[in-house]
Formats: sequence, structure tokens, C-alpha cells
Amino acid sequence: MEKTFSMIKPDGIQRGLVGEILQRFEKKGIKIAAMKFMMISRELAEKHYTAHKGKVFYDDLIRFITSSPVLAMVFEGEDVINIVRKLAGATSPEAALPGTVRGDYSLDVEYNLIHASDSKESAEREISLFFREEEIINYELITAKWVYPK
Ligand SMILES: Nc1ncnc2c1ncn2[C@@H]1O[C@H](COP(=O)(O)OP(=O)(O)OP(=O)(O)O)[C@@H](O)[C@H]1O
Ligand SMILES: [Mg+2]
Repeated sequence: MEKTFSMIKPDGIQRGLVGEILQRFEKKGIKIAAMKFMMISRELAEKHYTAHKGKVFYDDLIRFITSSPVLAMVFEGEDVINIVRKLAGATSPEAALPGTVRGDYSLDVEYNLIHASDSKESAEREISLFFREEEIINYELITAKWVYPK
């Protein structure tokens, strides 16, 4: 089992898409391991997006992600890093396919509703930026044996 970090961004909260987005992960069978509704500080935003420092969109991105609350989440499941990326969809609106969160609800490369870790290393780094160890809940999901039969 693998863990990934995901986040509904300020546009998702403001547009009332939290339930719609979460439902997709729940229905897929993915387990919620942690969740936090929060404002991101400038300091945390800079740490989270450190890989983008120096890019033309960096200042805008920091402003956007700190502008309104987000829902930070940890999901757990087999190959969940790749699967959550797939369900989120491509970054740019013309590439994001229908059926993905971005493909269905976003028209902008920046305001694209959801974040999803892109590798095992990013997932570990991002989870520890947003959550303390005791905030990640270890429990048995009763549907697991129907979602992962083997
Ligand atoms: N060309 C751009 N112009 C404006 N904003 C951008 C651009 N490219 C990326 N962003 C913003 O920066 C975020 C991080 O970019 P990245 O390249 O990591 O995309 P991603 O991995 O698809 O998205 P995320 O990291 O949020 O899951 C994007 O989700 C988007 O909000
Ligand atoms: Mg990324």
C-alpha cells in the first residue's frame, strides 16, 4: 500500500466542488488517511512549490494557493500515486481528458482545482509538510476486501 498527498485548491473550495471531487476518489475505492481544511501560509506554499521557484508563474501560483482555504488530504491504496494523478488529469486544460477532475471542471492551467503528488519522493515530502505523523489515521476500511480481492 502506498500513500499520496492531494489537495483541493482554493478554486475547488470557492466553486463548491469539494463533494463532487471527493466522491470520485471515494467511489473508486481509495482510502482517506488524513484530511485538513486549512489556509496555507506563504512559508508553507513556498516549501510546497519549491520546484517551481524562478518560473514565470511562480509568484501567481503562491498568491493563488494562499488566497483562500484548501482541503489537504492523504489517500492510501495500491499504486495510489499514479492513480490519483490520472483521476486529477493533465495540467493544461486542452490536454485534460473528460472523466478527469480537471478535464470535467477546469478551463485554466493555473486554476486547475486539484493537486496530486507526482512521485513517491514528492508524496513523502508533501505529506510531511502538511501533516504530523499522528494526523495520518491507520484504520481498516471495510470495503478493502471488495476493492482489492487478491
Ligand atoms: N504555465 C503555467 N501557468 C500558470 N500556472 C501554472 C503553469 N503550469 C503550472 N501551473 C500551476 O502550478 C501548479 C504546479 O505545476 P505542475 O507542473 O507541478 O503541475 P501538476 O503536477 O499537474 O499540478 P500539481 O502539482 O498541482 O498536482 C499547477 O497545478 C498549476 O496550478
Ligand atoms: Mg506537480
